[in-house]
Amino acid sequence: MCGIVGYIGTKNAKDVLLDGLEKLEYRGYDSAGIALFNQEGVQIFKEKGRIQDLKNEVPIAAYGQIGIGHTRWATHGKPSKINAHPHQSESGRFTIVHNGVIENYSLLKEEYLPGRLFKTETDTEVIVQLIEYFAGQELDTKAAFRKTISLLHGSYAITLIDAEDPEVLYAAKNKSPLLIGKGNGFNIISSDAMAALKETKEFIEILDEELISLTRDTIMIENLNGQKMERDSFIATIDSSDIEKGTYPHYMLKEIDEEPAVIRHIIQSYQNNAGEITVDQEILNEIMAADRIYIIACGTSYHAGLVGKNLIEQLAEIPVEVHVSSEMGYNMPLMSKNPLFIFITQSGETADSRQVLVKVKEKGYKTLTMTNVPGSTLDREADFSMYLHAGPEIAVASTKAYTAQIAVLSILGAAVGKQKGIQAANELDLVAELGIAANAMEGLVASKELIEHLAAEYLAVSRNAFFLGRGMDYFVAMEAALKLKEISYIQAEGFASGELKHGTIALIEDATPVFAVITQKNINWNIRGNVNEVLARGANACIISMEGVNQPGDRLVFPQVHPLLTSLVSVIPCQLLAYYAALHRGCDVDKPRNLAKSVTVE
Ligand code: M6R
Repeated sequence: MCGIVGYIGTKNAKDVLLDGLEKLEYRGYDSAGIALFNQEGVQIFKEKGRIQDLKNEVPIAAYGQIGIGHTRWATHGKPSKINAHPHQSESGRFTIVHNGVIENYSLLKEEYLPGRLFKTETDTEVIVQLIEYFAGQELDTKAAFRKTISLLHGSYAITLIDAEDPEVLYAAKNKSPLLIGKGNGFNIISSDAMAALKETKEFIEILDEELISLTRDTIMIENLNGQKMERDSFIATIDSSDIEKGTYPHYMLKEIDEEPAVIRHIIQSYQNNAGEITVDQEILNEIMAADRIYIIACGTSYHAGLVGKNLIEQLAEIPVEVHVSSEMGYNMPLMSKNPLFIFITQSGETADSRQVLVKVKEKGYKTLTMTNVPGSTLDREADFSMYLHAGPEIAVASTKAYTAQIAVLSILGAAVGKQKGIQAANELDLVAELGIAANAMEGLVASKELIEHLAAEYLAVSRNAFFLGRGMDYFVAMEAALKLKEISYIQAEGFASGELKHGTIALIEDATPVFAVITQKNINWNIRGNVNEVLARGANACIISMEGVNQPGDRLVFPQVHPLLTSLVSVIPCQLLAYYAALHRGCDVDKPRNLAKSVTVE
């Protein structure tokens, strides 16, 4: 969701910015732009649509040794060329790009900027006009910028150029991600490491309400009181090759293919020398001290949390509640005496989850983040972290992070259960069982032809679809429906199959596609009964089942895995169904409309 790149150095900033913006495409955007400073002053190029559209706008000869770039995901004002960033102050002296939402922008506009000419509908333009307003009150640029950000309520990551002092790139952040990329003779500002990896692997974190001034050779970090802050840099562990598609047509397909390897990597990462699962003892102590666990997450991570509830309750015998972040923060349930909060987030930047983290920390509760991005906001701000080790996930549709989240949740549940001496955990050889699940996943990713055929048969022309399940399979059904709707735009619902006849079965008509996921022995016949009910009403049903519960006529049967780990495997055909359905319908698989990978506004 919105991305920023800023560069000051000796290369042509145009190339660094356009390349960086391409790397940020995965975050989701609807328009893009760059500003370059050169002898002619600041030149701005922007365009609605893709980076390629922007590239077509920028003359080959465009040049600058300092510049800022932006991908915009519209919040205030429709996606359009005029609303695309960068934005300038009335005189053209200041140019900024901004991510986030300024909640008090109309109040600030009324109070400080009456009579000013505004060209856009954005909250961002208020920021840049305010900087110019304060600069007009005899403040230098840094002071005017500081004064402006001290007035902003909401979330922001901002990068600023002053045409009267083009030797400095300014930046600041609050709640929205922003990093400094440190170079030799250059410096970069970017929303995440990916945008800068081609230039540097060395980064410096920026904290909320800090003000950054970068020249080619210097980095200055100050807090809002003007006090200098010292901070060590860190080396990013990802490599620029990790974020290339290689020979794959889409990141999503590459990431689905990587899932078995991710599970094996997770096993290695959480194994001790004796080959046993191991989790930081401090985390285990905190979890064992908790009387209830609250899992907080959004979207796919929420669905992984639902599976995690089962895993933790069965293996560690601790009650777990799972909450959608955007609801939890504003409608807290009655809390147990000694709760522990687990935040599940691929990106570690999701604003809805972060607002809950901030609130529960204020109450003094312990927090653990499970994330794929070390160094991300939720990683830094929680008391403890566990990493997903899935490697960069670029496609907007989350796939390998989901299975990684379930694997790490199973590790946590089993490690706590073993320490507590819970029988179910003692009897589980998780290393072996995760290995078996990884093999089964591998078999499924190799069955693409069959799944592509099923997608064509069931989903090529349908306008809706249902996924049924019970127990663990219900949670996978919810994830399957989310995957299908977000990338193919087919309206889909994941249903607890027993609930269908209480209303939703009214939607079943001739040829409605209904997929049933069946892996659990105890409900095998119940769900098959529900499938018969929809068949009797004309549905086009497709059963995906596991060996051991399969029946003749099931369209896809995968090898048996441990009953607690079935979601790792049953989700793979669902992810591939969504992928091929989207492909058949000519959708932009990796960048579905209206969606962002990193949802950094509430
Ligand atoms: O980065 P997070 O895991 O916090 O993101 C949560 C959701 O925005 C995310 O899972 C979203 O639902 C995906 N697009 C689903 O594929």
